[in-house]
Amino acid sequence: MSNKKIKITETVLRDAHQSLMATRMSTEEMLPIAEKLDKVGYHSLEVWGGATFDACLRFLNEDPWERLRELKRRIKNTPLQMLLRGQNLVGYRHYPDDIVEKFIEKAVANGIDIIRVFDALNDVRNLEVPIKAAKKAGAHVQGTLVYTISPVHTIDSYIKMAKDMIELGVDSICIKDMSGILTPYVAYELVKKLKMTVSLPIQIHSHYTSGMASMTYLKAIEAGADVVDTAISPLALGTSQPATETIVATLRGTSYDTGLDLELLSEIAAYFKEVKKNHSKEIDFSMVMGVDTDVLVYQVPGGMLSNLISQLKEQGALDKYEEVLKEIPRVREDMGYPPLVTPMSQMIGTQAVLNVITGERYKVVPKEVRDYVKGLYGRPPAPISDEIKKKIIGDEKVIEVRPADLLNPQFEEAKEEIKEYYEQEEDVLTYVLFPQVAKKFFEYRRAKKYYIDSTLLNSEFMIYPA
Ligand code: CO
Repeated sequence: MSNKKIKITETVLRDAHQSLMATRMSTEEMLPIAEKLDKVGYHSLEVWGGATFDACLRFLNEDPWERLRELKRRIKNTPLQMLLRGQNLVGYRHYPDDIVEKFIEKAVANGIDIIRVFDALNDVRNLEVPIKAAKKAGAHVQGTLVYTISPVHTIDSYIKMAKDMIELGVDSICIKDMSGILTPYVAYELVKKLKMTVSLPIQIHSHYTSGMASMTYLKAIEAGADVVDTAISPLALGTSQPATETIVATLRGTSYDTGLDLELLSEIAAYFKEVKKNHSKEIDFSMVMGVDTDVLVYQVPGGMLSNLISQLKEQGALDKYEEVLKEIPRVREDMGYPPLVTPMSQMIGTQAVLNVITGERYKVVPKEVRDYVKGLYGRPPAPISDEIKKKIIGDEKVIEVRPADLLNPQFEEAKEEIKEYYEQEEDVLTYVLFPQVAKKFFEYRRAKKYYIDSTLLNSEFMIYPA
């Protein structure tokens, strides 16, 4: 038995509420507990990236950059961590290199210390520019193995990918199991082999969806994993991470002791119980809290299932649910076994729905899926058959280069486009990522400012009546 402390990344401010609360936790709900979270002694706090950027703007009318600055102001000791979708940043398509570089520079300047970067296809070419930019900005860069199960995803393929990322300069490796399908014994083998091959810290990120993740963490720890991702108990389990307190208590008194204070964690849990309660009207927690074993059969992650149900409802085709569920693995096979992670999960899910409700496979194909087949998202893990290619893109050519090599710089042009709203360089990035949503937010921000100004004026009139 090795003798080392296991470190904990707390996900409550990012993945936990993304997984359980449709990413609706507001900055206002985060700030009162920030200082206490900082006292725990976590390895890091995951607070930014993933869907939080989009949700902040779209649903909460908040500036995600401002959220980050506010958190950084209060969390002075614990490194802040973000999730970056490689060349997709926090969006759903590839962005030009100048945008990727600027976004990462600004993320670090505003407070991010650790950047976990992944590519949805595990195409390491798509990680080159983000990793380089993050290193340049002075961040700790964590390269990610997106875990999935298929005939082409083997332990050896993951070891090779880890080596490729190390060559690009990553500081640690994450095994990202977004669907919660990494079994305890496979985790053991994967971590053991990684540890034999690479000398970097290994971090495990799993979801509790299938009910296995706590066991998986334990076996991964026994195999030599250094850090695990957990969520404070009120926002743990279900489609979220294993509970922080459970893992801390499990390891207490062993050679892996995290050293974290369970009493302090319990105070933090009490706070988040209230936060959860405040969202119980709009969020149906029963949908996300159970153990979902369909994921073991179809590999469909939790968030994707609820999306599918709403897509089918819209089409009045909820009776086709089982059929769609079975179609998903078939589409995934046709597409060369991409991991079901953003944006691939959305694409595969939508295509499966279309295949079933039109009654003919690939009769209707969304632009994103056509782009994927053309190679515009990178190299599929396994080759796509000529027959499927022909059906989807006809005689169009598949690109072989790194997709972003085909994109022109965009920053200066975008800056010009939003000059009437421009308040900070970050606004340009927000706009490039989500043009319509950003414009709406900028309008709101301006209106709000005007409203506050006019209120001040009114109060002055109150003080000095004419
Ligand atoms: Co996750």
